[in-house]
Amino acid sequence: MSRKWWFILTAMLLTATLYRNRLRAYLEQASANVRDFDLPSAGAYDALVATVLEGFYAHVAGEVAAAHPGGNLLEVGSGPGRLAVRLAREAPGMTLTGVDISNAMVERAARRAAGAGLSERVRFEVGDVAALPLSDGEFDGVVSTLSLHHWSDPASGLAEIHRVLKPDGGARIYDLAHWLWWPARGEDRLGQLAAASPFGEGEVEVVRWPASVPAFVMLLLRRQPLP
Ligand SMILES: C[S@@+](CC[C@H](N)C(=O)[O-])C[C@H]1O[C@@H](n2cnc3c(N)ncnc32)[C@H](O)[C@@H]1O
Repeated sequence: MSRKWWFILTAMLLTATLYRNRLRAYLEQASANVRDFDLPSAGAYDALVATVLEGFYAHVAGEVAAAHPGGNLLEVGSGPGRLAVRLAREAPGMTLTGVDISNAMVERAARRAAGAGLSERVRFEVGDVAALPLSDGEFDGVVSTLSLHHWSDPASGLAEIHRVLKPDGGARIYDLAHWLWWPARGEDRLGQLAAASPFGEGEVEVVRWPASVPAFVMLLLRRQPLP
């Protein structure tokens, strides 16, 4: 090997040694991100996945705004905040709280809401759906898209959603269809999850998007009014 290549190799080894802790931290964070949202960074998810899904968010925003034209809405696993911003525009009477386990997603979502001039009505917080940093009975409705299959404890997630809903509130949990992404819980397993939750039952609907492709499912949960 020539002296030039020895020099380059030594410089690379030295850099790797000097920055190994930083490199390890970066790799750990990137693999946690892949577990939580499929890609190594929130920016990459926002640019590569969420952009493509704008039409799906428009579909979901229409359904959610029709069910909850006003009141207090919670979005769980709010990611980069694209759905939240759409919802707030579609339902001007709505106040929205987004909760996401990822700091980077929460920062991105808050920037998006501020850029849209919606910070007064739309706020974001870091939190795990299995232990929501929110009070009992705060929300008229809950929505979530493509997040449930990432939750490490979906049973606790549904119990928490039940806890923070008002007595007559309802939740719409959208996820990928089982045929499209097998780690998603799929139609049957979503129904079983709902039956074992404090909701006692849930309806599972197929959502056709794009066009008539049955690529998504929606679990509809209703909290029973107090007797
Ligand atoms: C695939 S992304 C979906 C983001 C956004 N809802 C969308 O439709 O583009 C999944 C999101 O769920 C969040 N997430 C994963 N596990 C979570 C948990 N246990 N509690 C709250 N958020 C979670 C991730 O950080 C990520 O932002």
